[in-house]
Amino acid sequence: MQVDLLAGTSHRPPMMPERRPTLLLFDSGLGGLTVLSEVVRARPDADIVYVADDAAFPYGRLSEAALVERVLAVMERLVARFHPDLVVIACNTASTLVLPALRARFPIPFVGTVPAVKPAAERTRSGLVSVLATPGTVARDYTRGLIESYAGGCEVTLVGATGLAALAEAALKGETIEDGAVLAEIAPCFVEREGKRTDVVTLACTHYPLLLARLRRLAPWPVEWIDPAPAIAR
Ligand code: DGL
Repeated sequence: MQVDLLAGTSHRPPMMPERRPTLLLFDSGLGGLTVLSEVVRARPDADIVYVADDAAFPYGRLSEAALVERVLAVMERLVARFHPDLVVIACNTASTLVLPALRARFPIPFVGTVPAVKPAAERTRSGLVSVLATPGTVARDYTRGLIESYAGGCEVTLVGATGLAALAEAALKGETIEDGAVLAEIAPCFVEREGKRTDVVTLACTHYPLLLARLRRLAPWPVEWIDPAPAIAR
């Protein structure tokens, strides 16, 4: 019979330093910072690497084939360098297209950022909802699929803003941006029909919450702006 002389005392393995998970946050530019702040809050125990592919910014203007090729090539290098446990694609323009290819290529989890159509449809009272996004995100089959699946009872206006992400980057860098330029990008979101008005605008580009205070100030009438960053972090 074997007698465990230490029975009754606690058997602890020698203290090993706890391994902190590595999260990689990726965007075409600085927009993913709106997601980063939520992720830092949700996972203070993680090491976080933030990567902005600003050499190819803005992604919203790339063709679908060029964007898939670009993101796969950049991710190949990032995964080899940082060995992340999980990657957050903090970019709607990339997520609505490249997630399946990324998941097929790399054996790690990818969390994406896609237009918050379902919450918008749940919150509208007028039934008029707008999705403010890059021209790329607006054109995606994925985005149209979300609308068909979750917003059947609403009238959804898709607004492809050509310069709003760049304006957000400029504002974050402290440059002066004109109110008129921002207003021109968001104006098509505001629809009036048969006595009803748009009451929810979903920010389907991670850059746009950087301008939230200005969007609120310039809106022709008050609406609910949906920033999906907290949901992505969760
Ligand atoms: N931040 C990116 C997104 O969420 C888009 C900006 C760009 O066009 O590169 O869609």
